[in-house]
Amino acid sequence: MSHSAPDALRIRDMRVRILPDARAVSLAAAEEIEAVIREANAARGRAVLGLATGSTPEGVYARLVERHSAGELSFRDVTTYNLDEYYPISPADPRSYRAYMHRHLLGRVDIAPNRAHLLDGSVPESAVAEYCAAFDRWIESDGGLDLQLLGIGRNGHIGFNEPCGLSVAEASRLRTRRVELHPVTRADAVREFGSAEAVIPAALTLGVATILAARSILILATGAHKAEAVAAALAGPMTAEVPASLLQSVAPRVAWMLDRGAAGALPDAPAAGPPIV
Ligand code: GLP
Repeated sequence: MSHSAPDALRIRDMRVRILPDARAVSLAAAEEIEAVIREANAARGRAVLGLATGSTPEGVYARLVERHSAGELSFRDVTTYNLDEYYPISPADPRSYRAYMHRHLLGRVDIAPNRAHLLDGSVPESAVAEYCAAFDRWIESDGGLDLQLLGIGRNGHIGFNEPCGLSVAEASRLRTRRVELHPVTRADAVREFGSAEAVIPAALTLGVATILAARSILILATGAHKAEAVAAALAGPMTAEVPASLLQSVAPRVAWMLDRGAAGALPDAPAAGPPIV
């Protein structure tokens, strides 16, 4: 990550870049992911990425596919783990995150199919706990995540780690598991499911502890509807009520990339100033 970019600030020891718009965020994030792939490949012969879904990273994946199509970037030595999945859901369901990842990235680059790991929303209920624990062990046995890509929910969630009343210490120990979705998350998921009744109200998610263990964390937010969550996570107290605020505990490993809308509620937001480019 460039430390000298003119748009770079530091808040609570986390690097924060405020870019003009969502497209600039996508390009900067893709560039960062490409740099991590190259560095990890050079150091260890492979890169292990934690990937996210949602509308925010779509432009990032489009850019990575573009770089791949141009012959500039290979995923041959890349292993991926996805953050979350609705539960229960068939892997073949077009609304599954598995289908999303296939559409936006995995089906469009040269990644080995057996190196792209996604939580399986069709695991039987009785096997979920053991399956989730195994998912964490697979990440560890692959040497841990070089980079975890994250979006942020309007309620401050990361993955599907929802706001909760646990202490910071307890929330920071949460591992990969089955969760119930928060009302704000369910409301936002109507976009994908068509109606409130159709939204699948539970999910499997990488735990906060698994996320915090990544060697670097890149969190993206675009649009004014994310501004409150971003400000609470970046500049508010660390609390399990805003799961993204728990990233402050590993601040030196965290980079935020925001557009002006998402940065709009930060205490020192330069949103009203001249373009920061
Ligand atoms: C979903 C995902 C999150 C994602 C968030 C934001 O609930 N589980 O991982 O970060 O929503 O989504 P969007 O980028 O569409 O705003």
